[in-house]
Amino acid sequence: MIIKGGNVFLDSRFVKRDLFISGEKIVSSSSGEVIDASGKYVVPGLVDMHVHFRDFGEEHKEDWRSGSEAALAGGITTVFDMPNNKVPITSKKLLDQKRDKVSSKALVDFELYISVNNSNVDEINENKIKFVKLYYGHTTGDNKVDDAGDIFKRISKDIVIVVHAEDNRVMEENRKKFDVSEKRYHSLVRDNKAEYTAVKDLIGFAERYGNKLHITHVSCKESAEMIKNAKKRGVKVTCDTCPHYLFLDDSLYDKIGNRAKVNPALKSGEDREALWKYLNDGTIDCVCSDHAPHTLEEKNRDYENCPSGFPGVETTLPLMLTAVNEGKIKLEDFIPKMTTAPAKIFGLERKGQLKEGFDADVVIIDLNKEGAISGNKLQTKVKWSPFEGMKTQGSSVRVIITDKVY
Ligand code: NCD
Ligand code: ZN
Repeated sequence: MIIKGGNVFLDSRFVKRDLFISGEKIVSSSSGEVIDASGKYVVPGLVDMHVHFRDFGEEHKEDWRSGSEAALAGGITTVFDMPNNKVPITSKKLLDQKRDKVSSKALVDFELYISVNNSNVDEINENKIKFVKLYYGHTTGDNKVDDAGDIFKRISKDIVIVVHAEDNRVMEENRKKFDVSEKRYHSLVRDNKAEYTAVKDLIGFAERYGNKLHITHVSCKESAEMIKNAKKRGVKVTCDTCPHYLFLDDSLYDKIGNRAKVNPALKSGEDREALWKYLNDGTIDCVCSDHAPHTLEEKNRDYENCPSGFPGVETTLPLMLTAVNEGKIKLEDFIPKMTTAPAKIFGLERKGQLKEGFDADVVIIDLNKEGAISGNKLQTKVKWSPFEGMKTQGSSVRVIITDKVY
């Protein structure tokens, strides 16, 4: 296959050239089917390092086929699936079973997280696991951790600890202060302090014990500032944020009520704007979707019974490209946040670049293609989006994954 005449992303910039694919690899020359990419941008298949593709008793929300289709629709060719399944993935055995079941349904490449807790650290160390998920604050699913410091101390130092950072004690205090009838209750309970208190403690652990720490879905300015400073001190910390923290804020409750519930909670407009600054100055390494589908029926329930989470795997790229068109970030600065950066953090040796020998995961982007986000048109099983009605400019038009073209 030859992808002809596009602007190809190579060594952090775009160059006009042809790209050759043979079998499952990028090669230096080939013949065969020609795909015209003139006027388009040719980038590595995107890596979304935080999704929840459900299945296993929650297939009414999503399964690995619908999740994959949604990912492909959004230019994503590799996903990292979270371990908060109905039966949480807390052992090597459960991880292997999940991998077996998922393999036959997945249309995209994938990695699976194991959930770390105080009792499975030794098993994780013994099984040469490369990365784990740590639920520092309580969220959807059964994933309690008693003593995070103990985990940081005992876990192998080459394991990347991906953390959901919200402090349960701060949230408990806030629950006493506010009434559940408040429209923005969820954001009042899961406030900036809930997140940055956790971030502070986690950075402290990583600094003391020398771990590789990755804070996922950073949602507020204080957390980002702490991470920036920790990086300066040489702490091995990386982080990501998601489109809902970059494009939405706590004014969303006025529009869609409880449906705006997500963990961490949406923050203020000021936080939203600040995150763009930290994305551009390199503090925020990656962008991911935290695709966490729940049905509209579930999301329309009253506060206590409404689950937290938004679908987002297929809206991430069009939204980010819209931001590129609006001048909020350069295309060559955004692309690494879903390609080279996650590949480097998680040690994916064949992903994230279009160099010879890398996997032939390629996305062709049309920066001009206009659209509007509409839940009905999405591939995810839950036909709604918190970004409903937003106009977009830019999307993937072709996805090639190991010589299949979508
Ligand atoms: C996630 C879910 O629904 O699984 N929900 C969410 O609000 N993000 C859990 C999580 O990632 O915290
Ligand atoms: Zn999540």
